[in-house]
Amino acid sequence: MIKFTPPMGWNTWNTFAEKINEELILRSADILAGSRLKKSGYEYIVIDDCWAQRSRDKNGRLVCDGQKFPHGMKYIADYIHKKGLKFGMYSCCGVMTCQAYPASCNYEYIDAETFAEWGVDFLKYDYCYKPDGLNGKDLYRRMGLALANCGRDILFSGCSWGADNTPEWIGTTGANMWRSTPDIFDTFDSIKTIIKSQYNILPYGGLGCFNDMDMLVVGMGGKGFVGLKGCSADEYRLHFAVWCMLASPLMIGCDIRETDDVTMSILTNADLIAINQDARCNKPYIRLHDGNEDLPIIIRALENGDLAVAFVNMTDGPAFFWVPTDDIGLPTFAHKTFTGKEIFSGDSVGAVNGTIQRHVAAHSAAVLRLSVVNK
Ligand code: GAL
Repeated sequence: MIKFTPPMGWNTWNTFAEKINEELILRSADILAGSRLKKSGYEYIVIDDCWAQRSRDKNGRLVCDGQKFPHGMKYIADYIHKKGLKFGMYSCCGVMTCQAYPASCNYEYIDAETFAEWGVDFLKYDYCYKPDGLNGKDLYRRMGLALANCGRDILFSGCSWGADNTPEWIGTTGANMWRSTPDIFDTFDSIKTIIKSQYNILPYGGLGCFNDMDMLVVGMGGKGFVGLKGCSADEYRLHFAVWCMLASPLMIGCDIRETDDVTMSILTNADLIAINQDARCNKPYIRLHDGNEDLPIIIRALENGDLAVAFVNMTDGPAFFWVPTDDIGLPTFAHKTFTGKEIFSGDSVGAVNGTIQRHVAAHSAAVLRLSVVNK
């Protein structure tokens, strides 16, 4: 059965790119399974690009790089499954992957069958090297149908970066999530750009096919393939909070063999993960504070009737946010009010003079989980 809330796991790309091997994958599976990460809901171990040999075998099958993965992919899948986790792999709808390894164009059914034989549970599907005359949407529909007929439940993770009007057609391909952004980098500017790029496409996400804001950079600290400047702890908190509020899949991108306490506390924040995984999968909406794109207020109604409200300060100075309760579904005449807590600080919060308010420091976010109560 394929998952109906945003998928959670770990992916090799952000930190390791082509420097992947069996030892890294098995150790990362050990860490994920043996730490608070698994209990928090992270379950997919995904091998991204650069796992294959440069050419197919004589039967046209993909073959893994024997130097990197000496025991083959089935061995890795079995190991991961024994840990109670799920196994993800990567291919591309063009004739080569983005790093020029063999890809699935015209091999969709044979590759889906191979992935099923190997015990794959998740397929990330990229968008490079599409041949002339074939378009992405048809190629994604092919792989969607091939996966649906491969005899195994394989979650289809589209990665066409929002190109070619992806949101218009992705829901027709069988994809369970779609990359709604270009690639992320470990800088606050990259996080900010990605957040702002989502404002107009939120209605396309949610149950069935989640907007995937790319792998998390939380904890990278400037290390690894997409690690550039790195971010502060507050910036990583803001990043994680927004990915949770916007129901993005949560795929960790740092080296989980070396996480520090701050990273672990961000990645396992139970209140934020509960919002991300809320069973109702209601769509979030955004109001810009003072019309400022760098001061979004994200609001999301939750299954139990609570409202999550995130005040996100992406400016370089402090901000005082406020929003009338009338504007977020609770008119004054209803004689009810909000009460709850701010998730990072644990502070009790409630409506003041018919508004929800909060001071938020630069590059930080406050996330309020509010219940409706009688006045
Ligand atoms: C990009 C994709 C990245 C990563 C990379 C591998 O197109 O967005 O997430 O998968 O390809 O080559």
